[in-house]
Amino acid sequence: MLESPSSGVFICVEGIDGSGKTTHSRLLVGYLCSLGFDAVYTTEPTRYSLPGRRLRESFFAPERLPVEEEFRLFLEDRVIHLRAEVIPLLKDGKVVITDRYYFSSVAYQGSRGLDWNYILEENLKVAIVPNLVLLLDLSVDEALARISADREEGVNTFEKKENLQKVNDIYLKLAEKFPKLFHVIDVHNSIQTVQEELQTFISNFLEKR
Ligand code: TYD
Repeated sequence: MLESPSSGVFICVEGIDGSGKTTHSRLLVGYLCSLGFDAVYTTEPTRYSLPGRRLRESFFAPERLPVEEEFRLFLEDRVIHLRAEVIPLLKDGKVVITDRYYFSSVAYQGSRGLDWNYILEENLKVAIVPNLVLLLDLSVDEALARISADREEGVNTFEKKENLQKVNDIYLKLAEKFPKLFHVIDVHNSIQTVQEELQTFISNFLEKR
């Protein structure tokens, strides 16, 4: 496992597609900057690495990649993301808010039948454990309704109902397994209400550190 740079704070935001991770992560970065923190948004899969680009191309392909190959690409992309962005930012003392991290691999590649322990072990060989995971919890029906309302092209192959249900179940089990790391937040309310709850939680969390 990589040594975690001690000065910064590493927070990741997880949840099924449609749960609002990107919106809330970006709003949180803005909020933390307004409080005087040096906060930065990053995301996985990246848009600049070769594995990240291959993954993004695969999202709208008729067939999913074989699960092991998909898993490896996410892992390779993660290593690049950590080296290029997260670790230097943490060394610089920043608060890094990452939109998806290795819990996405456990939930998504796990939902395709890959063993959870294997996914976690392989990730922990190359990835650092974050300080906090914010899990945005939303029912699959509501998530799919939000995706269809937001996007012209509709749902992609990662977002089929039965897949997302499995993904959601795994996320909730992960939160039970790692209660000290996870904070689960119900996101059925409006963006503003949820964001206020997140801001209160995060400012307390950062104050206590
Ligand atoms: P997503 O955050 O939805 O991308 P965008 O910013 O384009 O909205 O991520 C794309 C998909 O990648 C999402 O459906 C979940 C999937 N994914 C995995 O299956 N495993 C992983 O390890 C990660 C990081 C993402």
